[in-house]
Amino acid sequence: MKEILDVIVDPGSQPADLAALPLPKSYRAVTLHRDEEHMFDGIETRNRDPRKSLHVEEVPVPELAWGEALVAVMASSVNYNTVWSSIFSPMSTFAFLKRYGKLSPLTARHDLPYHVVGSDLAGVVLRTGPGVNVWKPGEEVVAHCLSVELESADGHNDTMLDPEQRIWGFETNFGGLAELALVKTNQLMPKPKHLTWEEAATPGLVNSTAFRQLVSDNGASMKQGHNVLIWGASGGLGAYATQYALAGGAIPICVVSSEHKAQLCRSMGAELIINRAAEGYQFWKDEHTQDPKEWKRFGARIRELTGGEDVDIVFEHPGRETFGASVYVARRGGTIVTCASTSGFIHEYDNRYLWMTLKRIIGSHFANYREAWQANRLIAKGMIHPTMSAVYPLEETGQAALDVHRNLHHGKVAVLCLAPHEGLGVRDDLLREKHLAQINRFRNE
Ligand SMILES: NC(=O)c1ccc[n+]([C@@H]2O[C@H](COP(=O)([O-])OP(=O)(O)OC[C@H]3O[C@@H](n4cnc5c(N)ncnc54)[C@H](OP(=O)(O)O)[C@@H]3O)[C@@H](O)[C@H]2O)c1
Repeated sequence: MKEILDVIVDPGSQPADLAALPLPKSYRAVTLHRDEEHMFDGIETRNRDPRKSLHVEEVPVPELAWGEALVAVMASSVNYNTVWSSIFSPMSTFAFLKRYGKLSPLTARHDLPYHVVGSDLAGVVLRTGPGVNVWKPGEEVVAHCLSVELESADGHNDTMLDPEQRIWGFETNFGGLAELALVKTNQLMPKPKHLTWEEAATPGLVNSTAFRQLVSDNGASMKQGHNVLIWGASGGLGAYATQYALAGGAIPICVVSSEHKAQLCRSMGAELIINRAAEGYQFWKDEHTQDPKEWKRFGARIRELTGGEDVDIVFEHPGRETFGASVYVARRGGTIVTCASTSGFIHEYDNRYLWMTLKRIIGSHFANYREAWQANRLIAKGMIHPTMSAVYPLEETGQAALDVHRNLHHGKVAVLCLAPHEGLGVRDDLLREKHLAQINRFRNE
């Protein structure tokens, strides 16, 4: 791996130098072990500790197949799916690998006793498999996490509808939290030239998801002037939703749980902010009963901020805890667009507030290649910015995942893989200089 790294960081090296290097037999990776998938049985999910389940170890380099690339990973990031994998909740990811492995002899490569996790990367293409014409060794890339087979007609209008759609590094193996990763080349996109490796590794999954969920016609089709209620507005997804709302001429109403997070939203340009912790909303009286008075209090607060208006779009992902309130506060004809259920996936809401006022609930999941490409393009142009707050070495991925699990992080946290230190990989100093303040606004002091 050292020779590979030396060539990548040498400014005088040529793509052919990388292609000429022999592949190593093994690489360091963050893994889960199949024989530990029951280690947390009987422990409440919030008390499960990713540091106990995530290992950093040498694993064999996988065989490269048709349409694939091996990428030398300079940096990756922790997504919430890394938390779900590492706490084996709501199910063990080995079940996904087993199912994928049954599809073909090639997918059987993924069904192993270990799972290399991680759904983001910034790095350099090392090798491409047969049938790959567009991408070449030496190219600097980021990868989005949509893995599709596209053998069925269903996915050919929108690849998210492929029945064999999977999230790379979560439902497939050989993910990005490692020195090498195996991807399909239709996951690759150009690395934004003005960003460091670790900055470039952080937007991929959440930026693409927020773009589809809020902006795309496959999601909420946000328009200029829309009021958009954004839960977790300084978190992984929410900080991109906030940026998209502002960039698209909409009005974000940002919900956060601390003054520091409120300040982060202000730094992005948001003005209407609800600190849910300070204002003490209790949407549930007990485990089974919601409190419509609290929905009303929340709605009244939104109207106070907007000058009497309700929200056109609710950007939902906390799930059970907030969904009843989200349906209630959307305006007549408004849209609740959901991509997750962090606090519980059995949602309850009062359906009268949905049908009598003609609201819509839209399900949204990741993004197709085109949407991911558009979202990455906006990063590359310096119109949407990374939200990286902290950087961890590969060995401390467990701690990084624990911080995200405990909601102690801001924006996104990066992980250095092959990159020996922060700050490498910038190819466009002028564009960086222009946007340095925005790029750094989430950095923890
Ligand atoms: N379907 C997809 O393609 C997709 C893609 C990305 C993520 N996701 C899912 O989306 C969820 C969020 O991901 P993320 O990366 O944004 O995570 P994140 O970085 O942890 O941010 C989520 C934010 O939501 C807020 N939040 C958490 N629990 C809440 C609750 N009970 N009530 C109200 N607000 C709450 C928190 O903000 P405050 O504490 O400041 O309010 C937190 O910062 C996860 O479940 C993840 O798996 C799905």
